[in-house]
Amino acid sequence: MNLQETMLIAIEAELQTQVSRLEKKHTKEFHQMLTYHMGWSGEGAGTQATGKRIRPLITLLATASTNEEHNLSSNWLNAVPAASAIELIHNFSLVHDDIQDNSELRRGRKTVWTKWGQPQAINAGDGLFVIAYQSILDLSKHYAADVVVRALQILSDACLLLTQGQYLDMAYENRHDLSIDDYWHMIGGKTATLLSACTHMGALLGYADDQKIEAYRLFGYHLGLAFQVQDDVLGIWGDEAVTGKSVASDLVEGKNSLPVLYALEKDAAFAKRWKSAPITADDVQEIAKLLEDEGAKTYAEKISAEQTEQALLYAKQAEPSGEAGELLLGLANKLLKRNQ
Ligand code: IPE
Ligand code: IPE
Ligand code: MG
Ligand code: MG
Repeated sequence: MNLQETMLIAIEAELQTQVSRLEKKHTKEFHQMLTYHMGWSGEGAGTQATGKRIRPLITLLATASTNEEHNLSSNWLNAVPAASAIELIHNFSLVHDDIQDNSELRRGRKTVWTKWGQPQAINAGDGLFVIAYQSILDLSKHYAADVVVRALQILSDACLLLTQGQYLDMAYENRHDLSIDDYWHMIGGKTATLLSACTHMGALLGYADDQKIEAYRLFGYHLGLAFQVQDDVLGIWGDEAVTGKSVASDLVEGKNSLPVLYALEKDAAFAKRWKSAPITADDVQEIAKLLEDEGAKTYAEKISAEQTEQALLYAKQAEPSGEAGELLLGLANKLLKRNQ
């Protein structure tokens, strides 16, 4: 078993322990909503239903790849509660995002709100949010209080920025006056900040010095930008059977994703159609073709590659070492080519 596989097992075990806080006699169904969403229970449960777990993995790889004095080959084990906290925050944001985006499918299964209704899904998301904070506090078993406080600060800063990004994402829906510039603020908040929290916190917990921590943080931030641009591409041209999400929803919801903003700036056939009437599920294929013909897919893929390059430049400054360093760089490159 390589290091990555060992880490993924530790992450899953920690997540289950954290979520089991809700396994109480009177709230069994509440616990079940969470275990369902996390991919462990209910119809279709299994490894294909858990999501990729890239955020906790990146966090632990960042810790394990800092090459500092305190570093031992297994130092990442102490950082597992932080990795779990970040994944729980990610999952809280997905449960709420699926309500916000009216999405019925996530990881190939019905979303929590589709199964239990929106009021219960909001509460399930809240539960994940709180458990994330309880998880990160478990860092105090292995770290001094000042380090735990810094980690908490990184997490809460990321959460607030995430809600700001989600605000923009929703506020931007069906607007026709936005530019690509507006887009970066939105995805910086909704996606890149949490990815940057992974590398930032990971390096902090590996006792990297401040300069190195900053390089790790920027590495994660640009990786997050690349990741969301790729998510936009998959949201239009991805294979539903592989992404596990409905490909129609971004266009139908009127999302100002990067391909859409690019084609709006071109002001050709797509722009006319987009502004004339809302897109319905039946129009999606034709609209996607129009976007592709106008170069929007090629453009977005180029931007995603550029952001990955930028991320790798910061990674070079961060000098991740050992097997973890190699895995971290390999993962960054792999994400660019992902189809899931
Ligand atoms: C989906 O994230 C939401 C975005 C920020 C683009 P992931 O693609 O990491 O989702 P899972 O956890 O693997 O399902
Ligand atoms: C991703 O939002 C960001 C958050 C959930 C905070 P999206 O709406 O773009 O992601 P998917 O495509 O539903 O996973
Ligand atoms: Mg969304
Ligand atoms: Mg969504």
